[in-house]
Amino acid sequence: MRHLRIAARAPSNIALIKYMGKKDAPGNLPENPSLSMTLNDLCTWVEVEASDQAGSIRWISEAPRLSSAEPSWRVPRLGDSGLAKVLKHAEKVRALSPRPDRALILRSANTFPEASGIASSASSFAALTLAVAAACSTDPEKFKREWEDGFSLRRSVARISREGSGSSCRSFEGPWVRWEGEETRTVASKLPDLAHFVILISDQAKSVSSSQAHARVKTSPLWKDRPQRAAARLAQLEAALEAGDLPRVARLSWTESWEMHSLFHTCAEPFSYWQPGTIEALHWFAPRIEPNAVGTPPIVTLDAGPNLHVIVEAASAESWRKELQQRFGAQAILEDRPGLGARFEILRGQEVKQ
Ligand code: PMV
Repeated sequence: MRHLRIAARAPSNIALIKYMGKKDAPGNLPENPSLSMTLNDLCTWVEVEASDQAGSIRWISEAPRLSSAEPSWRVPRLGDSGLAKVLKHAEKVRALSPRPDRALILRSANTFPEASGIASSASSFAALTLAVAAACSTDPEKFKREWEDGFSLRRSVARISREGSGSSCRSFEGPWVRWEGEETRTVASKLPDLAHFVILISDQAKSVSSSQAHARVKTSPLWKDRPQRAAARLAQLEAALEAGDLPRVARLSWTESWEMHSLFHTCAEPFSYWQPGTIEALHWFAPRIEPNAVGTPPIVTLDAGPNLHVIVEAASAESWRKELQQRFGAQAILEDRPGLGARFEILRGQEVKQ
């Protein structure tokens, strides 16, 4: 029995214009376009071992067997429903491939701590979709050449990934990716080189899942016109990226983040992801972002969670690191940078480099 091993690596992404609210149709179609920055080091690795013979798909709860694996990598702890969702998605990707019955064994790990409050669904579904699609392709070498040479294959794999986890479709290219309906594409930017920090306020599992949030926001009185407002803000943000206008990007992102959380706070059964530490941090950043702030404002945004994402010029990353560590504690700061999206290696016993 011959085996093929594929190792895919997909980063997480952070949205500046948020996907919040799904169309009433299957396949995670968004009510509004969104725009995100693809990350680099905060990522998920998935190893797929594919047999030449027909068989089922199995998940083994251990890290991918890669020479680049590090002790800090975390194997996700999947409950019954999480595992069922992963296997169902893997089955779907395999069913759409030229080798729809190939036996597969999956292993996966995140480079960030499980309880770090970073949403792992974008990176894990992107890595899973890519690994299974490559392992079940007719010719993995050809698939790899197509992957590296253009965007067409990336974008079709992104469409399948979206059906497993909406925001995962923005993790296939980078650094700036726009998603509308079924389509993803890269957005041009003249911003300087950037650095990305996460301020970890809490590592508790969230009490309202993002799927529930997508449904509940529609009961807010602020929901009316939200898709149009988000689309208009996205057009302004795209223009600001293209003009390299970092202060404008920072202010649009700040407003957008407050708007998404205001939807949570004003729906029929209001809820909040904010912790006391989130509110303190928001107060700390506010004077640094307001229109007459001194210096270049940081881009500050929150996902559906209590933690803050802070994006600054790479040239000032060191002074920001010091300041954030001093204010929020060194343990609370994770660091990353913009990246170019998911990629994979075909393993033949050789090393996989990060
Ligand atoms: O992909 P989901 O269903 O986990 O939704 C993600 C929604 C946000 O992270 C809050 C915003 C976004 O666009 O990523």
